Amino acid sequence: MASENVFVEHCKGINGLDKVILREIRGYSAEVYLFGGQVTSWKNEHREELLFLSSKAIFQPPKAIRGGIPICFPQFGNMDSLEQHGFARNRLWSVDPDPPPCSSHASSRAFIDLILRHSEDGLKIWPHRFEFRLRVALSPAGDLMLTSRIRNTNTDGKSFTFTFAYHTYFSVSDISEVRVEGLETLDYLDNLQNRKRFTEQGDAITFESEVDKIYLSTPTKIAILDHERKRTFELRKDGLPDAVVWNPWDKKAKAMVDFGDEDYKHMLCVEAACVEKPITLKPSEEWKGRQEILAVPSSYCSGHLYPRRVPFTG
Ligand code: BG6
Repeated sequence: MASENVFVEHCKGINGLDKVILREIRGYSAEVYLFGGQVTSWKNEHREELLFLSSKAIFQPPKAIRGGIPICFPQFGNMDSLEQHGFARNRLWSVDPDPPPCSSHASSRAFIDLILRHSEDGLKIWPHRFEFRLRVALSPAGDLMLTSRIRNTNTDGKSFTFTFAYHTYFSVSDISEVRVEGLETLDYLDNLQNRKRFTEQGDAITFESEVDKIYLSTPTKIAILDHERKRTFELRKDGLPDAVVWNPWDKKAKAMVDFGDEDYKHMLCVEAACVEKPITLKPSEEWKGRQEILAVPSSYCSGHLYPRRVPFTG
């Protein structure tokens, strides 16, 4: 498909997969693959990549793309009967021709609405009819906003229950130079210890070995400070009480076929999620979950979490 305006371009990506490029005038951009409904790139005005995409990512359905922002739905992790992180990241989404109005994105022209519905085959794996609308929007200031609306469209009167995450892979200069603020003193479930519950001690979180934790009842804003690159990511979320922090470190990195041996040094997943208390929707009920990520220079320093701009309107 030819490009229709400067803000939204439909084109082909790796292996001929359909992708959409969002652009804002100062040079910000984002890329979204219809496969997985997955953001794979987010760049600042200097065309610097802000998301991590594995050097060995496989763009071959149904294998999920390693990096960017995979969507975990209707199951986060492997606690239930479905495949790890659910099926949304392995499905081909469509462009939504009839998106709902969305007042919080009123100022953005660079956005795309995607949709995923149950399929006849899919009903055999997860016996529920649903409609998942995902809006990916790039603000004029370069912030990346994802809004998910999930509706139960069952006609048999049945409710369904799901867990969810925006599995965001941030690109960092060197994991040992990174700290995360906003999660200190919170309770978490440690995935490396059978989801046992602990309380985070001390200051901001730093990294010197494998981490796989689900922080519970987290604040709406979390900061990821990259000292070497003098950049801070701010993650703002709404409807998503939990936050998963994951870095596979060296051993697990080597065990993943689609992940470079050294890649763990340059990525950190901080995932706005709803895991501890799954969401239940009755027929025709809708759930909404939002994530907004910003990248700001780190004169915005540690201990000074929320310095700027437009209020976040969930
Ligand atoms: C994280 C989980 O969200 O995703 C980890 O907490 C998991 O346990 C990681 O290893 C990657 O999962 P996958 O399925 O993409 O390899």
